[in-house]
Amino acid sequence: MKLSPLERDAVSRVIRSRRSIRHYRPDPVPADLLQELVDLALEAPSSFNLQARSIVVVTDEPGRAALADATGGQPHPREAPVTLVFVAESGAWREDRGDIWERARRGGAWPEPFAAAAPGDARAFYEDPRRRGLEREYAVKDAMIAASFLMIAAHAAGLATSPMNGWDEAEVKKAIGIPDRGDLHIALLLPLGRPAESRTHPGRRDRSLTVHRETYGPTPCGTGAGRRDQVSGEAR
Ligand SMILES: Cc1cc2nc3c(=O)[nH]c(=O)nc-3n(C[C@H](O)[C@H](O)[C@H](O)COP(=O)(O)O)c2cc1C
Repeated sequence: MKLSPLERDAVSRVIRSRRSIRHYRPDPVPADLLQELVDLALEAPSSFNLQARSIVVVTDEPGRAALADATGGQPHPREAPVTLVFVAESGAWREDRGDIWERARRGGAWPEPFAAAAPGDARAFYEDPRRRGLEREYAVKDAMIAASFLMIAAHAAGLATSPMNGWDEAEVKKAIGIPDRGDLHIALLLPLGRPAESRTHPGRRDRSLTVHRETYGPTPCGTGAGRRDQVSGEAR
């Protein structure tokens, strides 16, 4: 796929102009738009295509109030007409997710031998994170990348979002009906709706502090002299 310069510019503008919005108008998000945004989130990649994440769409008033309480009273989940809860499913690799392999096989994406081996391969792969206590972390990666897709898609559609970390996990789990599920974890809360405020870009650290070449850390003295930064084209 190759976008036209105009289309690429549009993608770039969407990414650069997105802001985290803390105040929302009450107008509901049209059902078809909400559905489309959730579908786009589900297009996000996931480890082994296991899709170890789910999205709980909370629109009713008591549910949003419970989520706002779980965030210590932050305004966004109460004001926004929708709050999406991204749930990480750390036990996904143990479950029978035969529908995934079957779909990939039927659609011709994965050749028969690959699809047949996939369940065993996925289990073997996840044994290592399990031993190291990283099952949750792996599932959270799947959930977070799905949330990122949704944030960008929502902004492109004129809606605002705000990723949220500040909540009590037990309270959020209770609010969405999974108080006793040790295999499910809250990755992110994401209020969604029409913005009632505008926010200025808070800035990002200089690229020289956050983008490294070949190894982590500043370019050792002398070795980078005169070279051009591959990302920016600027001399370093
Ligand atoms: C994982 C994550 C958790 C966050 N949690 C909160 C939160 O609990 N409350 C809040 O107001 N903003 C939260 N934010 C928003 C950040 O403050 C915001 O992304 C950051 O200041 C940069 O601003 P920008 O998103 O407008 O570029 C969170 C952002 C991320 C990525």
